[in-house]
Amino acid sequence: MKKLIAGNWKMNGSLAMVAELTQAVVSKAQELDDVCDFLLCPPAVYIRDVTRFAQSSAVQVGGQDCSCEESGAYTGEVSAAMLRDTGCDYVILGHSERREHHKETSALVAAKAEQALRHNLTPIICIGESENERTRGKEKTVVGQQIDESLPAALSENIVIAYEPVWAIGTGKSATPDDIADMHQFIREKLQEKLADSAMIRILYGGSVKPGNATELFSVPDVDGALIGGASLKADQFLAIGAAVKD
Ligand code: PGA
Repeated sequence: MKKLIAGNWKMNGSLAMVAELTQAVVSKAQELDDVCDFLLCPPAVYIRDVTRFAQSSAVQVGGQDCSCEESGAYTGEVSAAMLRDTGCDYVILGHSERREHHKETSALVAAKAEQALRHNLTPIICIGESENERTRGKEKTVVGQQIDESLPAALSENIVIAYEPVWAIGTGKSATPDDIADMHQFIREKLQEKLADSAMIRILYGGSVKPGNATELFSVPDVDGALIGGASLKADQFLAIGAAVKD
């Protein structure tokens, strides 16, 4: 399966940075097109700029969140239809920062995923345990429950799962290849239980992915790409992670 290299810019960037970063990624992405797909997820206000720079390239664009509602009196929200309208193909949902700071529940994430699918967006559904949960040996219980509750009711193979252990995000502490292999296999089995046709669902790893650990990461079975925060803000690092797919 072709790997998905997804950049989650979070609340970072400026118009100047959007232009520079997107153009740099676009100009290199073609060379790596046979091994990976690149996806950029900028803050919502910059989506239109990124889609313009990425036009007629293989680079795809995604949102970082969407509303579970269709439209209406929801101040500050961005709808799935709007993301589609401005050129998005994907939307990140249920990132641990949204679960933590915005108290998003798995049920809400599932409702958002339904809405994304309704508007032809591929939801990237984020799951992952906290440090405390892993220390207590509860990581599979937590991740299993998140899968049970965060997936859209009308499940299709048009979703992506991002396994991001919360303690590995932005900390420089990536999970070990063995831990990642074990969890991705568990996630793959859970998906198979729910959907006969689940073999094509990509399972990404996220959490301190860098050029220095990307080669090892991509050699782990069932790692179908990466969701990258910090290193996606530097074109050379982001592209080096993509190039590591070939190693
Ligand atoms: P990080 O973030 O690569 O900076 O650890 C990953 C994420 O939050 O998706």
